[in-house]
This record gives sequence, structure tokens and C-alpha cells, in this order.
Amino acid sequence: MLLKDKVCIITGGAVQIGRAFAEQLLKDGAFISIFDLDSDSGELCCAELQQQFGKNRIIFCHCDVTDYTQFEESFLTTKDTFGRIDILVNNAEIQNDKFWELETDVNLNGFIRGTLLAYQFMSKGKGNGGTIVNIGSSCSTKPFVSSPIYTATKHAIIGLTKAYGDQYHFNQTGVRVICYCVGPTESDSISHSRQNNNTPNHERARKIDMQGMRYQKLDHVAKELIPIILNASSGSLWLVKNDEKSKEIPYSNEIF
Ligand SMILES: NC(=O)c1ccc[n+]([C@@H]2O[C@H](COP(=O)([O-])OP(=O)(O)OC[C@H]3O[C@@H](n4cnc5c(N)ncnc54)[C@H](O)[C@@H]3O)[C@@H](O)[C@H]2O)c1
Repeated sequence: MLLKDKVCIITGGAVQIGRAFAEQLLKDGAFISIFDLDSDSGELCCAELQQQFGKNRIIFCHCDVTDYTQFEESFLTTKDTFGRIDILVNNAEIQNDKFWELETDVNLNGFIRGTLLAYQFMSKGKGNGGTIVNIGSSCSTKPFVSSPIYTATKHAIIGLTKAYGDQYHFNQTGVRVICYCVGPTESDSISHSRQNNNTPNHERARKIDMQGMRYQKLDHVAKELIPIILNASSGSLWLVKNDEKSKEIPYSNEIF
């Protein structure tokens, strides 16, 4: 699958990693629809990328991924604008265990809503097949003691990816489901949604979680996504960390 003229939705695409994905995919010839709760950043990002890549290449949809109706309307707007939908990047998140119900609703239920809608719009018969990329974290496999509930949401999307990514579903839908786990990544601005918890106890826990990890560049994370969208098999799990080339993560289902 080549990316030229493919239509890609990125949730939480207004800032940071989501925005870097948008920019990279535009460079590779895709059309982009950004879904985000934050209209100010979303509209700014859209205007800046339109100036760089052309007005008709990118739109912004105000969308709260916890609201199924708004999410569906944003899919419809994307289809009406570009005529098709090929790729969904489930990326929107919050990281703050103090607001654990919202965190779960965005990071897990939001990915589930996106997945169900992507099947409605992309499954063969209704669409042309396609790709869903679920954005995980290094804590998708290695628990973070500083953020147990965030860890739980990021573990859960591994299960979502493995089950929907199975050949059983792929054969029916023509939609690949992949998980791309991202290690700590540099921020170029203050994140709206990430944890801001400066208690000494939390800081001690963060130090344990960050052992052996260093912050990598945003554009590295974005570049490494492209070969995964192009070539990764359905159900596969990938990790990019420390500015290294992304690696496939082994998964064992041999318990039974
Ligand atoms: N930044 C890192 O170091 C890091 C590390 C590991 C994994 N990740 C993963 O990468 C992805 C992006 O991370 P980031 O650091 O760019 O995130 P961020 O917190 O900087 O941005 C998240 C975006 O999601 C949006 N958002 C939040 N709630 C929403 C909702 N209800 N509906 C729609 N949009 C909503 C925010 O407005 C924001 O634009 C996440 O899935 C995250 O788990 C990031």
C-alpha cells in the first residue's frame, strides 16, 4: 500500500506526536483529517499544515473521542470531504491517574469507539479495507509504577490489537490492526493532557519507570510509523524508543 492519496484520520492530532504523524503522512502524500477536543490547537495546526502542504490536503474536526455521536460525525465529515477513509491512527490520550475514569474513557473506550467506526467506514463492501494503528506506550508491556491505570489502558490496547488484528477478522474486513508503542518522547510545548503531579512520591515512582530510557525526537517517532503502516502484518506489535529503529515486540499466547 502506498500512502499517496490515502486518507488518514489522526485522533488527538492537534499537538505533539499526533501532529508529527500528520506532518510526516502529508510529506508522504496522504490526506489528513485531525480529530481533537482542543479546537484552538487543532485549527492552528490545520492552518499551518495547509500553508505548508496545500489547503485541500488537511481538515480539522472538533471531536471528543468519548462522544460516539461526535466521533461518527467527524468520520462522516472526513468521508464527505475526501471521498474515502483508509487509515485510522488512534492516538488521543490523557495521562493522569487522578482522573482515572476519564483516562479510561479516552485511552481505552476512545480507541474502541474509533475501531468500531473505522470498521463501519473501511471494511470491504462498505469501504476498501484499510489500517488501524493503535498508539501504545513502553508501558503497554512494562508496567509503570507511577501510573498503574494509564498502564492498564495501554496494556488493554495490546489485547484489542491482537484480537481484532487476527486473520479471522482481517479476512472478513480487509482491515489490518497494528499497535505502535512509543517510548518517552520530547515535547516541544507543554502538554495539555499529560500528568502534572509533582508530589515527591510520584517523582520517586517516575524515576523507577524512566530507568534506561531517554527522550527521543518527535520526528523520529513519526518517520518510524511509515514503514509500519506500509508493511506490518495485522496483529503485530511494534516499539520505538531511544531514537532507535522500531522493533517488533514478541507476544506469547501459549498459556493454555
Ligand atoms: N509523549 C510521550 O512521551 C509518549 C510516550 C509513550 C506513549 N505516548 C503515546 O503517544 C500518543 C500521543 O502522545 P502525546 O504525548 O502526543 O499526547 P498529548 O497529551 O501531548 O496530546 C494528546 C492529544 O489528545 C487530545 N485529546 C485528549 N483528550 C481527548 C478527547 N477526549 N478527544 C479528542 N482528543 C483528545 C489532546 O487535546 C491532545 O491534542 C498517546 O497515545 C500516548 O499514550 C506518548
